[in-house]
Amino acid sequence: MNLKEATQRTAQLRETIAGHNHRYYVLNQPVISDFEYDLLLQELIGIERKFPQLQQPDSPTQRVGSDLTESFVPVKHKYPMMSLSNTYSEGELMDFDRRVQKTLDVAPQYVCELKFDGTAISLIYTNGLLTQAITRGDGERGDDVSANVRTIRTIPLRLQGNPPDELEIRGEIFMPFAAFDALNKQRFEEEEPLFANPRNAAAGTLKLLDAAIVANRNLDCFLYYMPAGDGLFRTHYESLQAAREWGFQVSGHIRLCNSMQEVLGFIHHWDTARKALPYATDGVVIKVNDYAQQRRLGMTAKSPRWATAFKFKAEQAVTRLLSVDFQVGRTGAITPVANLDPVLLAGTTVKRASLHNADQIALLDIRLGDTVIIEKGGEIIPKVVDVDCSQRAAGSLPFEYITQCPACGATLKRDEGEAKHYCPNDTGCPPQIIGRIEHFITRKAMNIEGLGSETVELLYHKGLIRHVADLYHLRKEQLLPLERMGEKSVDNLLKGIEQSKKTPFSRVLFALGIRYVGETTARKIADAVGSLDRLIRLSEDDLMLIDEVGDRIAESIREYFAKAENMAIVEDLRVSGLQFEAEAKVQLSSVLAGKSFVITGTLSRPRDEFKVLIEQHGGLVSSAISAKTDYLLAGDKGGSKLQKAEKLGVQIIDEGHFNLLLNL
Ligand code: IVH
Repeated sequence: MNLKEATQRTAQLRETIAGHNHRYYVLNQPVISDFEYDLLLQELIGIERKFPQLQQPDSPTQRVGSDLTESFVPVKHKYPMMSLSNTYSEGELMDFDRRVQKTLDVAPQYVCELKFDGTAISLIYTNGLLTQAITRGDGERGDDVSANVRTIRTIPLRLQGNPPDELEIRGEIFMPFAAFDALNKQRFEEEEPLFANPRNAAAGTLKLLDAAIVANRNLDCFLYYMPAGDGLFRTHYESLQAAREWGFQVSGHIRLCNSMQEVLGFIHHWDTARKALPYATDGVVIKVNDYAQQRRLGMTAKSPRWATAFKFKAEQAVTRLLSVDFQVGRTGAITPVANLDPVLLAGTTVKRASLHNADQIALLDIRLGDTVIIEKGGEIIPKVVDVDCSQRAAGSLPFEYITQCPACGATLKRDEGEAKHYCPNDTGCPPQIIGRIEHFITRKAMNIEGLGSETVELLYHKGLIRHVADLYHLRKEQLLPLERMGEKSVDNLLKGIEQSKKTPFSRVLFALGIRYVGETTARKIADAVGSLDRLIRLSEDDLMLIDEVGDRIAESIREYFAKAENMAIVEDLRVSGLQFEAEAKVQLSSVLAGKSFVITGTLSRPRDEFKVLIEQHGGLVSSAISAKTDYLLAGDKGGSKLQKAEKLGVQIIDEGHFNLLLNL
């Protein structure tokens, strides 16, 4: 490689890496694996080393990626949050040990720990009380996410024993697999985008603006490092024992090692054993135990020389791509799925893998019959990550993505900025119709007992139901002749349908299956507007005043009710006697009618109480400030919302002023 080629390649790599940094840290939506990312970074480090004249202060090799967002208050770290050097090879790990021994002149004792795959956090305790929790950010400054971190049950708010007056301790916040699965299941039902893995779910959750939602997501935390530990203890290991006594959750999977043999033993053990853990790990961290030795080894600009991470490779398998199926969801979204020659991967036989979307297939140039590499990271289903082109049959052709819906033949569409194609034939495409009916009957929606997916398909194929309203017109004599429909199951089915008429309005609204209106949003809308008729009349702007409703949801609701077919179904359901009104709410006055509020900061009582009060007087409460907000009710420590309100010219009021508004 000459200088010209190196210049070109570094520019390319820097741009690519910066793009991946943004996707990883800011959007929480990485498109490549950590391994692939590290390869890019290693390549850049290699070139910069060879051509030092190409080094630049703003190269991605010079800093830790940033996860700063604008919604939290940035705080400077007292001790910078470093990252760790890392390697995937045992040879490089031995090099690390050699470098350490060269500086120290002795073989040190190492502490081996698991590398938890979550998001780093620094906790600050003053006089034994949790006072601040800060994300890594860019390593120098992080976001103050204290309100969210306080909801994590394993993080003590008050310490036990005799901790120092000022204590800073660091660890990893993560989402256990069970919580991750439950969250994605809920998001699937609510048509929210799924989190790719528990790490993104944890990072995304920590950046939510509503701590009440964070509290329901079951985050967890292991602590593993005290930046000022050397002032208190002789060794890192002792600091962890003390941390445990003060009430922190410190992992039990730690080993003191007196040789590299023992270190490798720990690594080999956990490369397999980690698969049985209820949370994600992506490697082992090896730290020099003795603080005096740590001090002698010191730091580089980015990471300590006394520690390194050995990363496990995501488990991969090689197999053949036999064919591609295209699934049509209830909203018409098309998902390509690879059918594979069955292969064993991480303990299960894999026959299918995700291909994501048309772009991904084109990017990897995946072709039918190809030998493909599949990977199971922390992800839900395995994905195709690469193609072994050397195995490609001569004459193979690039994969042609479908242009027509595989179920109904309609021409597929793709909206700008959306990764997925979709079938626009929502009223005539069978999987969409069946999908909507299946959604309508689910437990969280109408909860129709005695009716399951198979029966829905049967009823649809026999021509007895074309849409959800038809369920309420089914008669016994139509059902009895069907296969597997005895007198008793028919009676149960009809009873279940009849009973569902009592389902509360918020769930009816969710059951309609309006795009982006999930269970929680439906509840908020039902609470705010009170009836379907009022909802039908609201403009997009009015809709956006409702908590959790943004332009995407507002537009989708308008589109839904603008369609004659949907209105016909709604009217049909009304005639059948479904609940179109919310249960009456206490209305004390209408002095706040038409006024919208946002609440921030610490008030004398929980925010929810103020919300109820505002609503009882006819006002609306939403979570985000816009130019349409009338008042920002601000308590202590209002944060970024105050700045935003000032910028938008929204009136900021305190509790006293608020009481005046209500004549309290
Ligand atoms: S020690 C100065 N120990 O890995 C050293 N880090 O790639 C501080 N991590 O930023 C880190 N498990 O977010 C340490 N047992 C462990 C860890 C761990 C996970 C994360 C941490 C760190 C990143 C480095």
